[in-house]
Amino acid sequence: MSNNFDERFRNYSRPADNNKAYVLEKLKGLFLEPGLVLEIGSGAGQHAVYCARHLPHLIWQPTDQAEYLHDLSRNISELAPSNVNLPLALDVSESDWPLDEVDYVYSANTLHIMSEVQVTQFIDGVGRVLKNNGLLAFYGPFKYKGEFTTDSNARFDLWLKDRDKRSGVRDFETIQQLSGDNGMELQHDFAMPANNQLLVFCKNA
Ligand SMILES: C[S@@+](CC[C@H](N)C(=O)[O-])C[C@H]1O[C@@H](n2cnc3c(N)ncnc32)[C@H](O)[C@@H]1O
Repeated sequence: MSNNFDERFRNYSRPADNNKAYVLEKLKGLFLEPGLVLEIGSGAGQHAVYCARHLPHLIWQPTDQAEYLHDLSRNISELAPSNVNLPLALDVSESDWPLDEVDYVYSANTLHIMSEVQVTQFIDGVGRVLKNNGLLAFYGPFKYKGEFTTDSNARFDLWLKDRDKRSGVRDFETIQQLSGDNGMELQHDFAMPANNQLLVFCKNA
């Protein structure tokens, strides 16, 4: 785990740096077969660079909203190993996604930034592009039965809503329901450091 600001990344995120090794440890046991990973909301691309370096059997496709692509593309072209593709624009609220068929979908710290409508569009979109038996992994904070797992997540939710009232920490049950509506079944719910979870769904064949 790194405690140092990594000045090589434009738009650097310290939380992404802090949690990348824990995420990788889980993905190593999940994304076992060679395949294409669609990452949604890649941000600075820190997880793409780190995870793809340690998972050379995967092709990693970072994406983000068009306005973030400039910094993300520079980070990827300067810092990523060769199994990371150049980033593509993907806004979950648009019906036209840049990829039709992927083996894995990974997304960190995105659902609480989006509106509820966008969360639904996100999971519907994954349902369209994920291959049968493919895996969807969400990293981030969640509520269970309407309760925050910690006081700090409750404060984080208030902070998010203060910035944008449509955002907020999502209910695990809502994500499970939306995934189920799109043929994806919960396979794992891992408790992760810093009061986060890694939710893993598998698309039914
Ligand atoms: C808190 S950042 C997380 C970035 C990165 N995954 C990380 O863990 O550091 C949230 C990301 O969600 C992306 N995002 C927000 N709304 C989106 C949308 N409608 N479609 C796609 N990405 C979106 C943002 O552009 C941003 O990159």
